[in-house]
Amino acid sequence: MHKKIPDTIRSEMEQLVAELNEHSYRYHVLDAPTIPDSEYDRLYRKLLDLESEYGLVLPDSPTQRIGAQPLEKFDKVRHAEPMLSLENAFSLDEIRDFDKRVRRLLNTEEEIEYTVEPKYDGLAIELSYRKGLLRLASTRGDGYEGEDVTENVRTIRAVPLAIPSGIAMPDEIDIRGEVYMDIDEFELLNQTRMRNGEQPFANPRNAAAGSIRQLDSSVTASRKLHLACYGAGAVKGMLFTHQSQFIEWLRSARFPTPVLVETVVGIEAAIAVIQKIEAQRASFRFETDGAVIKVNSLGMQKTLGAKTREPRWAIAYKFPAHQAVTRVLSIVASVGRTGVITPVAELEPVPIAGVMVSHSTLHNWDEVQRKDIRVGDTVIVERAGDVIPHIISVVPQKRSGTEEPVIPPKTCPACGGFTVREEGEVALRCVALDCPAQVQEKIVHFASRNGMDIEGLGEKNVALLHEKGIISHFADIYSLTLEQVAALPRFGIKSARNLIAAIDASRKAPLSRFLFALGILHVGEYAAKLLAQNFATLKDLYHVPVGRITAIRQMGKKTAESVAAFFRDEANLRVLDNLIAGGLTLVNPDYLGRQHGSRPLEGITFVITGTLPKPRQEVEAFIEQHGGHAAASVSKSTHFLVAGDHPGSKLQKAVQLGVRVISYAELIAMVKPKAQQQKLFP
Ligand code: IVH
Repeated sequence: MHKKIPDTIRSEMEQLVAELNEHSYRYHVLDAPTIPDSEYDRLYRKLLDLESEYGLVLPDSPTQRIGAQPLEKFDKVRHAEPMLSLENAFSLDEIRDFDKRVRRLLNTEEEIEYTVEPKYDGLAIELSYRKGLLRLASTRGDGYEGEDVTENVRTIRAVPLAIPSGIAMPDEIDIRGEVYMDIDEFELLNQTRMRNGEQPFANPRNAAAGSIRQLDSSVTASRKLHLACYGAGAVKGMLFTHQSQFIEWLRSARFPTPVLVETVVGIEAAIAVIQKIEAQRASFRFETDGAVIKVNSLGMQKTLGAKTREPRWAIAYKFPAHQAVTRVLSIVASVGRTGVITPVAELEPVPIAGVMVSHSTLHNWDEVQRKDIRVGDTVIVERAGDVIPHIISVVPQKRSGTEEPVIPPKTCPACGGFTVREEGEVALRCVALDCPAQVQEKIVHFASRNGMDIEGLGEKNVALLHEKGIISHFADIYSLTLEQVAALPRFGIKSARNLIAAIDASRKAPLSRFLFALGILHVGEYAAKLLAQNFATLKDLYHVPVGRITAIRQMGKKTAESVAAFFRDEANLRVLDNLIAGGLTLVNPDYLGRQHGSRPLEGITFVITGTLPKPRQEVEAFIEQHGGHAAASVSKSTHFLVAGDHPGSKLQKAVQLGVRVISYAELIAMVKPKAQQQKLFP
């Protein structure tokens, strides 16, 4: 049973939650953090410890954003007020017509006050707060009925789980906004998906929608989603008179709102704001396809009312799409690290929105066939925001008959090995182990920023080292000598020294980075982190049964199988052993300390020092009961020293020997998972 909660603890927890939420707001909404991530992590862990010790989780605790049990399906939800769509305008004259209509319906000659803001290209969400707490989040659906996606929306850091106390708030309020993914985030996600042979998302909107409509909220949690709130549905217990006032209230209640919302008088002033947004469009981190103009007075909005699907008080001005027509010069096959062969279209260079576009990725060979893109074709290319340009469609009228259909390559363009396509997979792969393209890509990946972070081992240098026969595997990096590097064409002694120093600096690395760097099929940064959280050391992964990996809740089946296969392969294990023997030191700050099974402390030796909340014998019995060993004195084979108040000399000894010191709460958490671990383990 959990302890009774003293008032001091409760207020400490309240304060921690408030502090963490404040930092999260600064980071995720204001984009201006004031503390380092490590400090946030420290406070977060402190809160987790208190939550597990006292069995109390405050409703707006940030620990509740991790993700819950996967759902079978989404429940249907009726919106208290229908979620309408917007009428589109494609020219400024249509905007002026809109203004005329508004004035006619309001029977006024006066200029109307409007708000103007960007139109976010994501998906609409309704957040229902009751007495200040987020109770329900639903998708728009058909406007009348959507789906309950509360668990998923909770994982979005910018969504307040509670309206801060001290803010005047309605008893009940439905807040509406757009969930979206930043363009950078979208591209990273797609790169990872393609590397892993998964189907990429067509655009950030689909990526955001796909992430929200996930039955497993831990997947949503791993995608970096944002929110911009722009309106209200049903409101009870408070009166707003103007849209601009409502936006102000949202901001004071710490909701993220559109980057720019301007209130202006008259349609020409509104048009000026539209033009400003269009000019700034390319600098936004998210995709916008237009601007939304709304009548500012809510009273006027009411008078104007709505048609079946759209309100009469708002309109969306759609920016002209960033498209151009050009020709496909060739379609080349490019081989990635995991052997996936993707088609890349080389285009006759064409400027789109100020940038020369000369190639476009076609995600896979199915897409080439589906769009029937042939070499020589005239195509429409779109570049949305900073997204990699893509071919929207062919212009068949421009065909002369000489265009050549593209056939997926039967052999790998880099090594000539046969290509295969596994059942149910869209990806075409080269499975040759010694394929030079893959070898080089693997080494580049190993050394990449999010991998072992070795500066100077980018594509060009790796190709050079590989072609000269100096390295043929990433493990060879660690036996590179200064002489070898300095003798290379592009290197001088100084740059060679820098490279060797960067390699040396990477010798000590967190396990999670190393696991990611290995480039195991399907293991991205997220999966690597999960593995590090669940396995204390690299060796613990050797010959790991697949069941132990699938038991990690967020781990996908395909990933688990791929990890197990990797650590079953003796050749891989030899490479790892050699790396360790060669001085690679892995640390694991991510490990959450809990083993699976009924004997979670199996194989772990503990020593106790100081006064613990429970009598020492009881604690020792607890350790033994769960499979651990309680030893009397600290030695090199001690795994953990459990230190209570007034610790004795054992503490010094432990510190000397580098034995990890943990608290009583941490010991308990190894067996009884903390709030977060509860979610991490089944
Ligand atoms: S107001 C009744 N403001 O666009 C009017 N909508 O095409 C409610 N959208 O369903 C919408 N950014 O999902 C509004 N700043 C913005 C918006 C916005 C994006 C979406 C919203 C709506 C769709 C209509």
